[in-house]
Amino acid sequence: MRKIVFATNNKHKLQEVRAAVCDTFDIIGLDEIGFHEEIPEDQETLQGNASQKSHFIYDRYHLNCFADDTGLEVEALNGAPGVYSARYAGEGCSFENNIKKLLMAMEGKTNRNACFRTVISLILEGKEYFFEGKVEGKILTGKMGEEGFGYDPVFQPNGFDISFAQMSLTEKNKISHRGQAVQKLTDFLNKK
Ligand code: IMP
Repeated sequence: MRKIVFATNNKHKLQEVRAAVCDTFDIIGLDEIGFHEEIPEDQETLQGNASQKSHFIYDRYHLNCFADDTGLEVEALNGAPGVYSARYAGEGCSFENNIKKLLMAMEGKTNRNACFRTVISLILEGKEYFFEGKVEGKILTGKMGEEGFGYDPVFQPNGFDISFAQMSLTEKNKISHRGQAVQKLTDFLNKK
């Protein structure tokens, strides 16, 4: 089976992506290549960050690899937290802190439209390719569900009456931003 490194330290993401690509590829985590540090991500766009992360690993290990970057874009907040979704409530903050800040910023807002957008940068045999996925939905007024991570408990995808945190991994992957981007990545890799 062909091996490909997923340049992330996020175990939830690794689990999601492994579930999405089934048995097509052997997805290797950073642990397995002996990399245990933080990868820098200080660009101003999702594409810039994804590319920075995949290049960082490729330049050191010369292994085929991909990285993703995701942002939650809220209409009533002019697209915030966007590329700053991970550190919305400050450097080193928890998912819980971010959710609290978001719910406070959304207090009294009638427009609760938001989307998750994921950009994947793949470096295959030294060439870079990008894949994007997007899911539209609404920001809930309180947390619902225990599954997933990040903003999942307060995001309800359009067409559903449950949050991402109330879905199984399989259900979330079918419609999610990352699921869609990974599907495009997998389709591409399968043709290679
Ligand atoms: P990252 O930079 O791609 O890791 O994503 C930035 C932040 O977006 C994460 O720290 C999470 O708070 C949030 N995020 C990314 N993907 C998801 C998801 O699938 N569900 C909920 N939140 C997510």
